[in-house]
Amino acid sequence: MRDRLLAAEKVKAIDWRDNTLYLLDQRNLPFEETWVACDSAARVAEAIRSMVVRGAPAIGISAAYGLVLAARARFAAGGDWLAALEADFALLAESRPTGGNLFWALNRMRERLDRVKDLAEPLAALEAEAMSIHESDREANLTMAQLGVDLIRRHQGNPQALLTHCNTGALATGGFGTALGVIRAAWLEGMVERVHVDETRPWLQGSRLTAWELASDGIPVTLNADAAAAHIMKTKGVTWVVVGADRIAANGDVANKIGTYQLAVNAMHHGVRFMVVASSSTIDMNLASGDDIPIEERDAAELLELAGKRVGADVEVFNPVFDVTPADLIDAIVTEKGVVERPDAAKMAQLMCRKRLH
Ligand code: MRU
Repeated sequence: MRDRLLAAEKVKAIDWRDNTLYLLDQRNLPFEETWVACDSAARVAEAIRSMVVRGAPAIGISAAYGLVLAARARFAAGGDWLAALEADFALLAESRPTGGNLFWALNRMRERLDRVKDLAEPLAALEAEAMSIHESDREANLTMAQLGVDLIRRHQGNPQALLTHCNTGALATGGFGTALGVIRAAWLEGMVERVHVDETRPWLQGSRLTAWELASDGIPVTLNADAAAAHIMKTKGVTWVVVGADRIAANGDVANKIGTYQLAVNAMHHGVRFMVVASSSTIDMNLASGDDIPIEERDAAELLELAGKRVGADVEVFNPVFDVTPADLIDAIVTEKGVVERPDAAKMAQLMCRKRLH
């Protein structure tokens, strides 16, 4: 299957070349394919903050390249470049709070920096580390796609109607996608009849990005308002909800795009299975439960405006863009280290001791 998945890789949202990070500007999709060139950590941090690049794994990869750009500039400036680089670590870490991959990637860059900082030329090693973070995410996507397909095959007959939320595809990762990677692989295996896609208010990752990715692959896709999900589970024969994750706590609680929690409650009510697909770089064993995951709140304009036009009344707005799904609503967490069914703290700890499967 691996070769077929690689052959199906089409969209690429992150491109590192000529010492510059090029990011496909996701704010303009699906109508315009424009790229933003980032030549400094500040530009990368701004691209993350403003959603030029989004999706937890893609944010982590971008931050790693941002650190390479920062190290290059600080090293060239001379003096105590390592002390100066701390400001860049902080700037990148502050760009978005919820996705765990950002902090995981910066930690990996810091560990590599600690090993090479005294070399006459430490920059090549840092660049190699960022490229390895990028490549290992791509590999993880392929492994998870295979594991997720095996899981769907084990539990139910085909073809199936699936439901997904937000965007977890090539635009959100270094490769084929997490949840969308499983869905795309299941389609290639002839196991998918239709994919129902929540539009994912307020930023519309579902209607603008996921629907676009699925349609480009020729996968039958139907878009729905987020509020239609329970009705669709009841009437359209949905067998699995398949979503990604931005951070997973040590007990298996999952932070993902706002609206995921209510999907899981609805799935439980309707006997629909609930699968989370995320690489182990999303799992934060330092956080005991989902209550410890910081939840990002974004600008009120995301709710009060549509396409730049004011539509909402002049009232106070609460705009949390992630929520936490408790582990006991989740049937399976699929990672590149293996699958955890009915997750809990003991099973998550066991998983994290395993090696990657690729
Ligand atoms: O706010 P976003 O678009 O960065 O949020 C992305 C999501 O919530 C995705 O569902 C999740 O990151 C998984 S990405 C593979």
